[in-house]
Amino acid sequence: MLHERLEAYACLTEEALGRYLPETDCAQKRILKAGRYSLLGGGKRLRPALMMEFYRLCGGSPEDILPFACALEMIHTYSLIHDDLPCMDDDDLRRGRPTSHKMFGEAMAVLAGDMLLNRAFELMLNEPCPNVEPGNAFAAAGLIARMSGAFGMIGGQVLDMELEEKRESALVEPMIELKTGALFVAACGAGCQLAGANETLKNASAAYARAIGLVFQLRDDLLDLEGDAEKLGKATGADARQHKLTYVSQNGAAHTRERIALETKIALQCAEQFEDHAFLCELAKWLAQRDH
Ligand code: IPE
Ligand code: IPE
Ligand code: MG
Ligand code: MG
Ligand code: MG
Repeated sequence: MLHERLEAYACLTEEALGRYLPETDCAQKRILKAGRYSLLGGGKRLRPALMMEFYRLCGGSPEDILPFACALEMIHTYSLIHDDLPCMDDDDLRRGRPTSHKMFGEAMAVLAGDMLLNRAFELMLNEPCPNVEPGNAFAAAGLIARMSGAFGMIGGQVLDMELEEKRESALVEPMIELKTGALFVAACGAGCQLAGANETLKNASAAYARAIGLVFQLRDDLLDLEGDAEKLGKATGADARQHKLTYVSQNGAAHTRERIALETKIALQCAEQFEDHAFLCELAKWLAQRDH
């Protein structure tokens, strides 16, 4: 059931992403080509799936909120393009293909990321969502904006870069919570907000998101150490090569697995506050042991 539903959400997302960023014949068409290259080139589409699932659990039809689900996927994709740049993680492979800067050059990769970020906000502001109350749409866009910025994903990327030099181990968890957890909080929270959910459900979704965000990044760090690059579609061993301070480098693989198990348990408890929680539970369990 988990993989069928993930696949269904990914199909909805994929089709809408292509429509929201069409190839257009204009002088600057190279930027659209670069944006589409990264956006439509695979990816698990987990954040749109989470947003649509929480929206469904709070009483809506998933396809109602495709502009918001795609906006978040655009922000996530832009974060990956910039994360791979030579001035950050300097990676050559992403989603099984050469990274944006390898294909289009550094300047175009910076601009492609910037373009996706702007297109995301344009979608949230301009694309009609007739079944969503305007006040809920505003609040969801505000949450996504905050979770993407200095107090969310970008803030975490800043700590990630600084920790390469500073080695302050007390900042490792805040770094993970921001660089990875924040977009999961945005996904789950926006799904609830767009449906006008009550505070109890919003709080449960935020706690679930925090737990799976941590599980997700801890698993990512483990996979960097012992995963299969072919399955992952990105290089392994990159964190060690870059002297990254990660949860795994700090605590070792065995303790990391224990922490993953603990956070998975927390995620399951949070999920149970929703009536129809099978997908959320199966997803949390899969994230704890995924191989890609
Ligand atoms: C990769 O995210 C970046 C991290 C937060 C570790 P995903 O593993 O969700 O990337 P895609 O979207 O499936 O490529
Ligand atoms: C990436 O963390 C987090 C963001 C892009 C915000 P990583 O640097 O560990 O992600 P990968 O391993 O390159 O996908
Ligand atoms: Mg990084
Ligand atoms: Mg990276
Ligand atoms: Mg990584």
